[in-house]
Parts: sequence; C-alpha cells; structure tokens
Amino acid sequence: MSKLLVTGAAGFIGANFVHYWHGANPDDTIVALDCLSYAGNKHNLAAALGQPWFTFVKGSINDQALVEKLLIEHDVDTLVHFAAESHVDRSITGPDAFIDTNIVGTHTLLKAAKNCWLDDDKKPQHLFHHVSTDEVYGTLGADDPAFSETTPYAPNSPYAASKAASDHLVRSYHHTFGLRMTTSNCSNNYGPYQFPEKLLPLCMLNILSGKSLPIYGDGSQIRDWLFVDDHNRGIERVIKSGRAGETYNIGGHNEWRNIDVVRRLCDLFDDRFANDPSLAARFPDSPCAAGQSASSLITFVTDRPGHDTRYAIDARKVSGELGFEPVETFETGLAKTVDWYLANEPWWRAILDGSYAE
Ligand SMILES: NC(=O)c1ccc[n+]([C@@H]2O[C@H](COP(=O)([O-])OP(=O)(O)OC[C@H]3O[C@@H](n4cnc5c(N)ncnc54)[C@H](O)[C@@H]3O)[C@@H](O)[C@H]2O)c1
Repeated sequence: MSKLLVTGAAGFIGANFVHYWHGANPDDTIVALDCLSYAGNKHNLAAALGQPWFTFVKGSINDQALVEKLLIEHDVDTLVHFAAESHVDRSITGPDAFIDTNIVGTHTLLKAAKNCWLDDDKKPQHLFHHVSTDEVYGTLGADDPAFSETTPYAPNSPYAASKAASDHLVRSYHHTFGLRMTTSNCSNNYGPYQFPEKLLPLCMLNILSGKSLPIYGDGSQIRDWLFVDDHNRGIERVIKSGRAGETYNIGGHNEWRNIDVVRRLCDLFDDRFANDPSLAARFPDSPCAAGQSASSLITFVTDRPGHDTRYAIDARKVSGELGFEPVETFETGLAKTVDWYLANEPWWRAILDGSYAE
C-alpha cells in the first residue's frame, strides 16, 4: 500500500491521474495539493472529494513548510509532481510565473523531500516522480529520428525551458543527495477535463458555439498525441517498476499535423450531429445544427513565435523495459473525448462563465 502526494491534482492530467490511480490501486491513499490557479478546478476531483482515501489541500508547491507538513502527517512515500504552468502561449506573454512555479516550485518540493525523506535516512523507501514534457527536446525536422532519452535538451519556449530546468534539478537531487527519483517526458495529451485554452477542447467548444477554429500558421506542425489515461498508465509503470535515477519517454506512436487533428475532430462532430438530432437543439449556433460541416469554421491565424515544427517520441525504453503500450488508438481516444465533452456541458459552461472558480 502506497501513500501518495499528488501536486497539481486539480489540473487536467493530475485529476485524471487521481481517478485512474484509485481505480487501479484502491488501497492507496492520495493527498492532493493544488493552488487552484486558473487551470486548477476542484470540480475535476468531485468523485474523490470526501472519500476516506482522499485528502484535498489548497496550497502552493512553493510553500515548503506546507509540503513538509503534508509529507510527514500523511507519511507520504511517493510524490507525483504534475503542478506547473503548462500553456506555451502564456509563457510567451508572461514567463515569470513559469520560472516561479516550474523551476522554483519544483526546487521547493525537492528541498522538502530531502528534509523529510533523506536527512538522517528517515524514509529509505521513497520515490519522487517528476512529470515532464517532450518539449524540452526542442523541435524535429520531417526526417529526424524521434526524441529518445539521450536526445540533447534544446527547449525553444519559456515553458519548455522552465520544464527543462526542473528536469535537471530533479536529476541533480538524485546524483548529489541520493533522492530516489524518476522522470517521464510525455507527448501531447488529450482527454476529459482539459482546460479549454488548449487546441482540442478549444476547438470542441468553438464547434458547439459556432466560433472560428484558429489554426496557427498553415497547421502543418506535427505533434505526437496520447490519450491522458495512457499517459497515466505509463506513469504508473514508471513509478512501480522504473529504475531510480532514470527518465522514460512516454508517447503514442501517433504523429499528426495540427490541421489534420482538427479536421478529424470536425468529422466526429459532423457524425455526432447527423446521428443525434437532440444535439442541434442543444447547440443551435453550431454549423452542424444546420447540416454544415464543422470544418467551415477553420481559420488560419498568424503563427506564434518560436513555434516548434515537429515533436515525436521514441518510446522504446518504456516499452521494452517496462512493457508499456498505449491502449487507446487515436480513433477511440478522440471519440471518448468528444463524447465526454458532449456529456459534461455543465463542467465546461462553468469554466466559460468563470463560476467554476467559486
Ligand atoms: N498537457 C500535456 O499535453 C502535457 C504533456 C506532457 C507533460 N505535461 C506536464 O504534465 C503536468 C500537468 O499538465 P496539465 O496539462 O495537467 O496542466 P494544467 O495546467 O491543466 O494543470 C496544472 C495544475 O497545476 C496547478 N498549479 C499551478 N501552480 C501551482 C502551484 N504553485 N502549487 C500547486 N499547484 C499549482 C494548477 O492549479 C493546475 O491544477 C505539467 O507538469 C506539464 O508540464 C503536460
């Protein structure tokens, strides 16, 4: 039985992780720490709140005294670190928050873990799992080999640079102080509970309300997409069977151009509206309600500065060493995601009108 501290647990991947982990490991306890920034949403944890195995604490990873209190009082042996500023566009308009949270915040967690676990060898059986991104590796040309764990870091946005710095700090606490740590670097996630400023949820909600679907540049940027619970399954493998001190790339062997992802999404909505007449009544502003294709909303906008061309993950290490393979195909994962957003209208309406934060 493990006792987890999950940071950033009210965010997109963190909340899915809490639900996934409890389903797979019902005897474990989870303490969730989240400051509920704009992307943090306590409603994402509604099914866990009040359960005996779950404790929610509103607070910051930058508060070392709070983190130490939680590690000690809950006898935590596994810290899973999702908390971050995560949106590349925001890191261009306001990079300071990315330095404070992703670098200083991660270092604060490391100091707390060192004090509570390492000093006087207080908890020899511990693990600090750091959740990172493939964006630390920079960008690939069309024919370059995919990112492996030995690809040199070359971050291109303040977001990616701050995550790269945090990866290095976590590694350094292993080599310098003996912290038992693992890091996973994952590709683009999609699925339920994703905050609607990222590409897929933004496009889904715009299709339903008849707003344009903004595509940066010509939409030819390539990303490797992974369904969020496949990411969580990969993290679980790394936590349970990964070697301390190692990093593992997690990906879906699933490269798509942004424009093609959006077109697939449009096809799915066209199909859903064609097969369910009640959707036209619920979403009269959608072009699909009038029998037009959602793709009529696609609009090309000026590309963002420093936009990486292509990301791709070489997942042979996590697959060969830990036996990880994604369960969802892009077809099944996208269909699940679309159906979740259609079935959870109150969830996203509360974000759009701001009431989710009350
Ligand atoms: N979304 C992706 O495609 C993707 C891919 C690879 C890796 N990641 C990594 O996974 C992690 C989670 O990403 P996400 O998409 O769920 O992000 P998110 O923005 O949806 O969630 C981040 C969460 O962290 C919380 N948070 C922010 N600052 C905090 C602080 N100081 N103290 C406590 N909590 C704080 C927020 O309130 C929010 O709930 C991040 O570390 C990100 O870099 C994301």
